[in-house]
Amino acid sequence: MDIKEEQEFLLRVGDEKFTLPYREAIERVNKKLETINKTYSEKLGRTFISSQSSRIKTPESCLKKMIHKGYDIKEKEAQSRLNDIAGIRVICSFLDDIYRLANLLKEEEDIEIIKIKDYVKKPKASGYQSLHVIALVPIEGTEKRKVEIQIRTQAMNFWAVVEHHFVYKQEDKGKAAFEKDLKECARQIYKIDKKMLLIRKRMEQNYC
Ligand code: GTP
Ligand code: MG
Repeated sequence: MDIKEEQEFLLRVGDEKFTLPYREAIERVNKKLETINKTYSEKLGRTFISSQSSRIKTPESCLKKMIHKGYDIKEKEAQSRLNDIAGIRVICSFLDDIYRLANLLKEEEDIEIIKIKDYVKKPKASGYQSLHVIALVPIEGTEKRKVEIQIRTQAMNFWAVVEHHFVYKQEDKGKAAFEKDLKECARQIYKIDKKMLLIRKRMEQNYC
């Protein structure tokens, strides 16, 4: 472990020069999402996006991930290897809205979707569900930055927030005791999401 190299990395990755382009990229995607939300909430006659939030990964969290993945502890390496330095979380009410939104993002001309990780179709071993869309977003000049957009239902978010707090990234071995129950909850949440979608579709047939 090279302490000097790590300290240098923390300083550089925490510096405005490094974070500003990511903020710009987030800003750009946030604006797009707001426009999409306005248009589709009107079109669908209900709220399309319930909430959206964003964050820049902390230098400490970047360092931890770089070490864990065995990458060179360099800012350029972080920029090219880490997909989630800029992260946006979008919460919808219904399962089909997740894919509707992903498709709308694909149609945006200036941003390029470089990867989609579908943890709804194939949840993670923990039970975690979400659709992760990794977008390459142009900023000022010819520069681009990656933004990870996590799209999930409110029910999936409830699970992920609780699990993230108590289990994910915690080193305590006692967490194993909750894994089975949490996984079962994730399965129930998927069932509820499917049922709520079905109910919505039936109501739409009745009232529209
Ligand atoms: P991370 O090092 O966790 O960022 O993983 P990754 O870069 O290999 O990407 P992955 O697609 O596995 O996960 C990216 C993000 O999804 C994480 O930073 C979390 O926000 C979320 N995530 C992934 N797995 C879990 C999980 O089991 N539980 C919770 N609560 N969140 C998860
Ligand atoms: Mg992450």
